[in-house]
Amino acid sequence: MPTLDICFSPELLPLFDLKGKVAVVVDVLRATSSIVTALASGVTHLVPFSELAECRAMAAQGYLTAAERDGRQAEGVDLGNSPFGYLDGVVPVQGRAVAITTTNGTRALHLSAAADGIVVGAFLNLGAVADYLRRLNKDVVVVCAGWKGHFCLEDTLFGGALAARLQADFDTTHSDATLAALDLWAAAAPNLAGYLLRSAHVRRLNHLEAHQDMAFCIREDEYNLVPVFRDGRIESLNH
Ligand code: MLT
Repeated sequence: MPTLDICFSPELLPLFDLKGKVAVVVDVLRATSSIVTALASGVTHLVPFSELAECRAMAAQGYLTAAERDGRQAEGVDLGNSPFGYLDGVVPVQGRAVAITTTNGTRALHLSAAADGIVVGAFLNLGAVADYLRRLNKDVVVVCAGWKGHFCLEDTLFGGALAARLQADFDTTHSDATLAALDLWAAAAPNLAGYLLRSAHVRRLNHLEAHQDMAFCIREDEYNLVPVFRDGRIESLNH
């Protein structure tokens, strides 16, 4: 049976051997939720960048630019990091490609490069990701983007939710990280929104008046798509 492990922060990635495994990169609030929403809204593909200047420069190649630093939209770009930027129609996104950079999420994607495959996970596409992993039948490491290297509740909860869905098909008992995430998920699932009100990034987002983002990002199975990051691009497998 393949194993499912959880890396609580990109800083811990050097302790993991991703070769031969699938990395599920998650930044529930909000990078991977926004990426899933972008693809569901007709964006053709996204190119993640670590540096703001590189992201901005992609406008010259016809890309929409999306950039966030410390929770705020960066200067001189088309979109921030709210999933509603892809839904509200202010910036038409259908048929466009997006260059994106965020504080933690895009970094976690790049740091997972050693994996055999990199999948973008969020509560919004939890079921689709679980089905895809079942089909692949390979060892999985959930890579939590965290916040500037620190552990965060929301990404760990995603890891627990994914492990709960895959318990029949994956070994979710060999890793203390997975066991802890499963316990956290069991405690939080009955009232996930209430539970997450205590989390540091929800407090940060509320301060930035992005209250509605958390309620949206914790919806399960909103979109039936699996974004994969390969050859420098994030594209939907179902695209
Ligand atoms: C990130 O990548 O750091 C986040 O998604 C931050 C955010 O925009 O909420």
